[in-house]
Amino acid sequence: MIGNRFSAAAETYDRHARPQLALAQSVVSMLPEIYPEQILEFGPGTGQLTRLLTQRFPEVPVDAVDVAEKMIEHSREHFSKFPQINWIVGDAQTYRSGDRYPLIVSSSALHWVSNLRKTCENIFQCLEPGGYFSLGMMLEGTLKELHNLRREIAPEKTPAITLPTYEETKDALKAAGFTLERRKHSEEEIIYDDAKAFMKAIHEQGVTGGKVSAGNAPLNRAELSQLIVDYQEMHASDGGVAATYETATFLLTKS
Ligand SMILES: C[S@@+](CC[C@H](N)C(=O)[O-])C[C@H]1O[C@@H](n2cnc3c(N)ncnc32)[C@H](O)[C@@H]1O
Repeated sequence: MIGNRFSAAAETYDRHARPQLALAQSVVSMLPEIYPEQILEFGPGTGQLTRLLTQRFPEVPVDAVDVAEKMIEHSREHFSKFPQINWIVGDAQTYRSGDRYPLIVSSSALHWVSNLRKTCENIFQCLEPGGYFSLGMMLEGTLKELHNLRREIAPEKTPAITLPTYEETKDALKAAGFTLERRKHSEEEIIYDDAKAFMKAIHEQGVTGGKVSAGNAPLNRAELSQLIVDYQEMHASDGGVAATYETATFLLTKS
């Protein structure tokens, strides 16, 4: 289950979350000149985006809703000097509070949901008319080298689920009622020291082990060793190995 996997990764996530930090920065930089009275964040995890929010909007109350109980415990403890953050266990697909928010944000989280359109519809309901939703998504091309190699080494263990595409995400947002104000779509290569360090980093980001990357069965020891050797050979770049991250940032409104 997604919640358990991210709970397990809570302690190590930040050291290895460079692409996620870049996406969180993009989510904040896309915001217009507003100063909301209250913010709702979905999937805060260890609070990379939440921290940026506290810098941009000091003292504004943030309801930070994450499905992973241990992530919430971890972040509540780490952010104890920020009493304006309210750490809540909840699911973006169904979460409702009595309030409607002038600003909702989410980064590197909603690509995990099983029904993106329904989730977007729920978020639309949480937003007040005239409010903003700034969203950072990891997309289908993320870690494509790894997925392709995995498919070759253990085709019977290919994951049935992939991350959403850019078009699917845009369609889900529009179908939910959002107006698209701004967007940025990019593909970037990140260099890791070597294939082993890369595998360790994505595991500690909580990227492996879930429905998207794990497939219906985990790789055995021999397959994993093969994956590391082949990855090192096929994707060597700039003194390390390269991995692609495809991301998009959207600024949306409710008119
Ligand atoms: C990769 S972490 C990203 C954390 C942070 N937003 C960042 O930018 O670094 C994804 C987080 O989303 C949470 N998450 C996944 N699905 C969720 C859902 N349906 N509702 C709320 N949180 C969810 C996970 O538990 C995890 O803490």
